[in-house]
Amino acid sequence: MTQSALTSQAGLHVAVIMDGNGRWATARGLPRTAGHVRGAEAVRRTVEAAPDLGIRTLSLYAFSSDNWRRPTGEVRVLLRLFARHLRSETPTLAARGVRLRVIGRRDRLPGPLVAAIERAERRTAGGRALELRIAIDYSARDAIIRAASRLAPGETERTAFARRLGEACGADGAPDVDLVVRTGGEQRLSDFLLWECAYAELYFTPRAWPDFDREDLAAAVADFRGRTRRFGDIAAATDAYSAGRA
Ligand code: IPE
Ligand code: IPE
Ligand code: MG
Repeated sequence: MTQSALTSQAGLHVAVIMDGNGRWATARGLPRTAGHVRGAEAVRRTVEAAPDLGIRTLSLYAFSSDNWRRPTGEVRVLLRLFARHLRSETPTLAARGVRLRVIGRRDRLPGPLVAAIERAERRTAGGRALELRIAIDYSARDAIIRAASRLAPGETERTAFARRLGEACGADGAPDVDLVVRTGGEQRLSDFLLWECAYAELYFTPRAWPDFDREDLAAAVADFRGRTRRFGDIAAATDAYSAGRA
């Protein structure tokens, strides 16, 4: 069985770089934080839409380890928003069968946010419809360094490393990312899931995150489904050159 067949059987892993909140707000004469507030509604829409689109794992980039560089006021608002939404959304997530895990470092987060994360993870632990991973104080390169330092002598398999990476992020290992969606117009990964994205398809949209909705997610998934993934192999059945010689 090909790797892509395995992927589609298990459901997709979609990773979203939720970008463009600040510019969305600035363009409307609002403070940047207003964009973050509206962005939280886009998170809700995306989580709701994901299972129907065949998404089994959804990784959302909420706060990078480099985002600590931002003005203290913006960081404070963001961290408070995370705590508030984790508390308010947990019952709905649990009712929908969504299992929430937060990936990234926790030792630099405020106590109330860590408490909200732990409670949300506990309350949604039985969810099977969707694995929702929210990245907070996350850096893929830092996670890779932590994972490498956890490897036992002689542990050289990719699967072992992927397991260590899961441990290093504070969650179980996740399958490789099938599709990365980045909103806000930039075309870069900004240190998100670098190991897991080795063969991910990349989809960039100018839509700002606060405007992102169910149709946008469906369009990204439809675009993904139209692509041919080869994982270094050749697509024998659809390759025109080999078909011509058959
Ligand atoms: C994404 O939107 C949210 C975070 C990175 C926390 P931004 O805040 O980066 O918005 P832009 O890119 O400045 O518009
Ligand atoms: C990436 O967005 C991080 C999140 C979406 C949380 P940034 O806005 O921080 O990325 P850069 O600085 O434009 O690369
Ligand atoms: Mg940005």
